[in-house]
Amino acid sequence: MDIKVLPLPAEKMKDKIKDESQLGFGKLFTDRMLIVEWKAGSGWCDARIEPYGPFMLDPSCTVFHYAQEIFEGLKAYKWSDGRVALFRPEMNARRFNQSGDRICMPEIPEELFLDGINKLVALEQDWIPTADGTSLYIRPAMIAVEPVLGVHPSNHYYFFVILSPVGAYYAAGFNPINIMVEDHYVRAVPGGTGEAKTGGNYASSLKAGLEAKKKGYDQVLWLDGRERRYIEEVGAMNMFFAYGKHIVTAPLSGSILSGVTRDSVLKLAPTLGFTVEERPIDVNDLMADISAGKVTEAFGSGTAAVITPVGKLCYKDEVQQLTGGRVGEITQNLYDTLTGIQTGKLSDQFGWVKFVD
Ligand code: COI
Repeated sequence: MDIKVLPLPAEKMKDKIKDESQLGFGKLFTDRMLIVEWKAGSGWCDARIEPYGPFMLDPSCTVFHYAQEIFEGLKAYKWSDGRVALFRPEMNARRFNQSGDRICMPEIPEELFLDGINKLVALEQDWIPTADGTSLYIRPAMIAVEPVLGVHPSNHYYFFVILSPVGAYYAAGFNPINIMVEDHYVRAVPGGTGEAKTGGNYASSLKAGLEAKKKGYDQVLWLDGRERRYIEEVGAMNMFFAYGKHIVTAPLSGSILSGVTRDSVLKLAPTLGFTVEERPIDVNDLMADISAGKVTEAFGSGTAAVITPVGKLCYKDEVQQLTGGRVGEITQNLYDTLTGIQTGKLSDQFGWVKFVD
């Protein structure tokens, strides 16, 4: 499909970042965005890159009332030779359609998803920060824009992509965060929408997150919704626990997100001399294993979060400290290797990197 590029008037151009150490996450957006519409009867149409700006939408649109929305997250990196690299973008395209299928949204051709991102990032590449730990975060999303209050799949959608130069997701940077295991609220149940990347999952996580924050924790670790016993995920990350050189993570149970970084860790770790295992993790066993010194490190994985070390885990009233508040060796190794591949400092034996042209 032909993607039109609309003019960018001088008054819509923003100042570029001066101090990349102040970026934070998702607060600043580039000059342009991509929009493609889907209409019942005509399918995907009207693909355009236009100046970044607000949508004019009817207040009755389905997305505002029934949350028919999905999104993705991936990153672009500017290599020292000037090339612009995306990390496994085809995985995001596939997962986007899986999420869409769960909440009855139209499938977007992977080629259109990828071409649109490619063209937008190519135009906006001067916005890609280059300091260590920074990148251009790419946020594709789809919203239902039919102005009607009946509960049924919309007959009109916007697929759009916005770009944000980012630093670390957590204010702490690449330093251990503290996590509280949530034993009251649940995020997802089998058969629900937990494995779809849909906004409602994040809205329903806010209350637990706020309560954890009041107790001094950065994030909530969800347990399974049926027994409140097995480790699932942290909303923005999948979780890994190292038993010496053996790294364990929860299986894709149907209620957790199938993380691109999770998959990359599972493939990368064996090449670094670690063994990996996907198995149900009972929170009681986990706490006992940390207490007995068997769990040596814990870390989260996600596109935004990259590899995030965990320094403290709290379950009910038990608090366990990991790696004495420092970044563990395995966590550091995986962070360095993964970001090394993404930024071109290490070779990519998996063929994960795709260059923007
Ligand atoms: C990502 O890691 O890209 C995500 O979508 C998580 C989000 C909550 C920041």
